[in-house]
Amino acid sequence: MFAESDAARRAGRRVVFVPTMGFLHEGHLALMHEGKKRGDFLVVSIFVNPTQFGPGEDLEKYPRNLAGDLALCESAGAEAVYTPRADSMYGAGYQTYVSLSDLPNHLCGLSRPGHFRGVATVVTKLFHTVAPHVAVFGQKDFQQLAVIRRMVKDLDFFIEIVGHPTVREADGLAKSSRNSYLSPDDREKAVVLHKALSGARERVAAGERNAAAIVSWARDLILETPGTEIDYVSLCDPDSLEDLAEIGEAAVMLLAVKLGTTRLIDNMVLLP
Ligand code: PAF
Repeated sequence: MFAESDAARRAGRRVVFVPTMGFLHEGHLALMHEGKKRGDFLVVSIFVNPTQFGPGEDLEKYPRNLAGDLALCESAGAEAVYTPRADSMYGAGYQTYVSLSDLPNHLCGLSRPGHFRGVATVVTKLFHTVAPHVAVFGQKDFQQLAVIRRMVKDLDFFIEIVGHPTVREADGLAKSSRNSYLSPDDREKAVVLHKALSGARERVAAGERNAAAIVSWARDLILETPGTEIDYVSLCDPDSLEDLAEIGEAAVMLLAVKLGTTRLIDNMVLLP
């Protein structure tokens, strides 16, 4: 992969990278289309990264479809697809990890200890091998994007990070490979995440500035749907991810909700 990328760079091409865990959907396709606009040698990686899954999480059952994924990458005009194997990424004696001190101490980092260490580590490794000029990530994983932006700044990666807006189903549900786990009944119920976020945004647009009032309204709305279990509903500063008491200049609402055994996340910027 590095040789391919190096040759592209030497030929004066701009290498653009979309890292994924596969089971690609329209959200990933949008990242690839964005990538094609920002560079002229598009690399997609497909790697279900074991180090970002905790014990008891869905590593074994994470959906996979390599043949379908490769067809989609080709249709999107990817020049290369990098599909490393777990035993070559993390061989015997592997012991080096990248971890951030503060950003993971919020939101998903609390319910998924070690998750962002796994993400930062694998993204570092992928960045070294793919050697892109620019990398595109979905804003659906808002905390992940914040972690990667911070890491790139802190560790002097010369890579431009682009966040791409969340792609949604017609009813507002954020596209995610994990949506494939939902039963038809839970799939219908899942629309409540988007309802809570857009309702919160309407409240802010109407002048509400008290974060606790908005969070409490959103929690109540979600819990009115039977079978939902809230992991978190937070109104945060978009950079530090610290909880806000008052909505001042910029605010993002983030939530994680379990429906059955499926944990869904979503977010919306309430004030840009
Ligand atoms: O967002 C994802 O699919 C993954 O977390 C990533 C960035 C590919 C790292 O494994």
